[in-house]
Amino acid sequence: MSKKISISEVINAFTPAQEISDAKKFAGRTEYVNDAFIGLITKGSNIAIVGGRGIGKSSLARQIINLSEGDNSLLEKLNIPFDEKLDFLTIYLACGNSVKTISDLIIRLLTTKDCLYDWIYDIPNAYKELGKIQGGFDVKIAKLSSEIVDETQYSKAIQVHEIDVVFQNVLSEILKTKVAKDGILIVIDEFDQIEDPSGFAKLLKSLATNVPGVKFCIVGVAQDIQNLMKEHESSDRLFAGSVLNLPPMKPNELNEIIDTAENSINGFIKFNKSARDKLISLANGHPYIIHLIGKEALKTAYNEGIYEIDEEYILKTLKDIAEKEADPVLEGRYKKAVASSHQREAVLKSLAEVIQKDGEISTRDAYKIAIDYDVDNPSQYVGHLVSNDYGAEIVKIRERYYRFKDSLFATYVKARPWLTKKE
Ligand SMILES: Nc1ncnc2c1ncn2[C@@H]1O[C@H](COP(=O)(O)OP(=O)(O)OP(=O)(O)O)[C@@H](O)[C@H]1O
Ligand SMILES: [Mg+2]
Repeated sequence: MSKKISISEVINAFTPAQEISDAKKFAGRTEYVNDAFIGLITKGSNIAIVGGRGIGKSSLARQIINLSEGDNSLLEKLNIPFDEKLDFLTIYLACGNSVKTISDLIIRLLTTKDCLYDWIYDIPNAYKELGKIQGGFDVKIAKLSSEIVDETQYSKAIQVHEIDVVFQNVLSEILKTKVAKDGILIVIDEFDQIEDPSGFAKLLKSLATNVPGVKFCIVGVAQDIQNLMKEHESSDRLFAGSVLNLPPMKPNELNEIIDTAENSINGFIKFNKSARDKLISLANGHPYIIHLIGKEALKTAYNEGIYEIDEEYILKTLKDIAEKEADPVLEGRYKKAVASSHQREAVLKSLAEVIQKDGEISTRDAYKIAIDYDVDNPSQYVGHLVSNDYGAEIVKIRERYYRFKDSLFATYVKARPWLTKKE
């Protein structure tokens, strides 16, 4: 132990609240990085990243952004061959809940400073185009760029100029200036937040024809691209093989996350084999869970002067996480589902314990366990758990088969110590 480790280094060794931008800290996912790189260099293809909550979608998107801007350090680390540095003008937008339609999305892209607005401002022809959706040049564009655009403000103008045409023209004007050799990459995170994404496929098609050189990378919680875009027709051609459907991370990849965190504090505190095995089994493929528990464990270990973390310590940490509400959203959902009933908690836990590989839960399996927990009438509680009053965390698939709406929550249910006591 050469150098004293600071509390801030310990606290930031794991980053549950932050996606991974630094290639050195990005674990595993070799084949997906490879596919993403191919997606970037394939002319005319867009990229989509889909998968469950907390599985690592935004982190992969961050790596794609790095690659698109010519930083190939991740490819070097993963021994993925390359013979060029990419040069895209890349912009990133995370859809908050105010982006409800594709028009909202386009307005956001055009008028947000970190997105296209700064570029538009510097290019007179693009600036003129933007003026068309503001009902004239007198309106201060800066006002638009500040926050959410008032709907009436642009709806009037849209009647004159279709917003997607303006968008197309703006992109084309930016491309004409040859700011970046490979074109424009637009990364849209949390695409699933867009209530009504209809028209997006049409927009992609028309951009592909009229302004080649624009590529999208859309990211969101979904099982596949059709689900993400809420489109039934096939979008295969628009994404030409570049739909990255992120599965749970493998045990060795999760182990690498722990290595990286340990190395960042020069092994000042270590996770022994039993702690690692426990962490990896609790995480069930979710990198988020490794970061959440890892961070809390390191923090308390540091305060208590403990230098080796074992399985027992991980179990104790789980209690702390629940009590301190280290993840208020997951904890809030847990409390809503349980709503102070020991029997309902027992059924919730029983369901989480018997999830099959495909995510399905047979009530036969679950009820056996629930009855061992002394639940009299488990089916009644399953009825509660599918209802909105208890958060609708469970979804019925067909007679006697259910699944958790979200596998991250299911993982939390399994890992979390009991909230209630037996009456
Ligand atoms: N390849 C990786 N290596 C190390 N840590 C990772 C990796 N991928 C994701 N993480 C970590 O896992 C957590 C979740 O990652 P991220 O935010 O990228 O997931 P997400 O799928 O976008 O989640 P959400 O569904 O909440 O948007 C973060 O703490 C992030 O730091
Ligand atoms: Mg994300």
